Amino acid sequence: MASFAVAFSHFAILLLTAVSLGSSLSLDYYDKTCPSADFIVTKAVRNAAYKDKTVPAALLRMHFHDCFIRGCDASVLLNSVGNNKAEKDGPANLSLHSFFVIDDAKKELESYCPGVVSCADILAMAARDAVVLSGGPTWDVPKGRKDGRTSKASETIQLPSPAFNISQLQQSFSQRGLSLDDLVALSGAHTLGFAHCSSFEGRIRNFSPASNVDPAMNPSFAGSLRNMCPVNNKAKNAGANMDTSPTTFDNNYYRLILQKKGLFSADQALLNFPKTKNLVNEFASSKEAFTRAFVNSMIKMSSITGGQEIRKNCRAVN
Ligand code: HEM
Ligand SMILES: *[C@@H]1O[C@H](CO)[C@@H](O)[C@H](O)[C@H]1NC(C)=O
Ligand SMILES: *[C@@H]1O[C@H](CO)[C@@H](O)[C@H](O)[C@H]1NC(C)=O
Repeated sequence: MASFAVAFSHFAILLLTAVSLGSSLSLDYYDKTCPSADFIVTKAVRNAAYKDKTVPAALLRMHFHDCFIRGCDASVLLNSVGNNKAEKDGPANLSLHSFFVIDDAKKELESYCPGVVSCADILAMAARDAVVLSGGPTWDVPKGRKDGRTSKASETIQLPSPAFNISQLQQSFSQRGLSLDDLVALSGAHTLGFAHCSSFEGRIRNFSPASNVDPAMNPSFAGSLRNMCPVNNKAKNAGANMDTSPTTFDNNYYRLILQKKGLFSADQALLNFPKTKNLVNEFASSKEAFTRAFVNSMIKMSSITGGQEIRKNCRAVN
């Protein structure tokens, strides 16, 4: 009975989200035209993640970057052509990788149902699979996104910066129809993956004339980050894991924030509005509350649409 109630409430959340966005997406979009779409994507993600445990985090972040620029239209997947520099060659592309997983899924899909499944939908499904494979929740991905024809490196400055404060984060999310609740839940994606020193080094040395270290950061945590990011370090790939269990989708991210061990200013800043602080507390104490909110907000974020066509090759417009 209890499990029925839980299952039913998840179902109700899915329906509500799809309806309230009034989007053209639907859960049964490929039921007739490509019934194995989900299965094929999941297989490609699973094969890749099995060989390389950094794949799930990369796919989750890739979907976020896609949705925040021109909607979830696979603009992040396009290669630069001629003198047009694409998003993937713009600033903020640190950590973007694993594009081959989307190519693998697309290749398989084109052999089963050519010209049917958009690259934007593949990426949305792959992000879901990345969460599931990391031990997180699953959900049905509404589908029917179209792929866009434009990708500009210059537009990646529209992504939120890791140095953003809470009002800047709120603004960045609200411009895309996302609330403070969505901000706190989706930031929980930082339970997975890795960040380069450049994304947080402003907090650990020469922070301000008054303080070497960001006072919002635990001093011994700052010390351990300094060890990982030596001054004048030549190893451009040095960095730190996003949380203490970077391949497991859990709520440690929120617990660390409460200990002043958030990696980015933008993570730690979630404590700076009473509303967002309350949510951090709630998600830190309940993994179940976090995962429910995360699923709801992922569906919302991934329903920001924007494209026009079904690309044949995810790296190039038709
Ligand atoms: C709230 C605003 C956000 C900011 C400012 C932000 C910023 C960043 C930065 C700077 C990195 C590290 C890049 C690097 O140094 O290599 C990163 C990594 C990551 N972000 Fe975010 N992010 C935000 C929201 C999100 C959202 C909404 C998601 C997904 C739902 C997400 C998923 C990830 C993941 C999974 C990684 C690790 C990537 C990897 O290991 O390959 N982020 N983020
Ligand atoms: C990120 O941008 C740099 C500079 O344009 C480029 O050399 C690099 O290949 C890009 N990274 C990815 C993963 O595309
Ligand atoms: C956030 O930063 C902006 C831009 O620097 C500033 O105008 C604003 O007052 C800051 N807000 C908070 C809450 O710190």
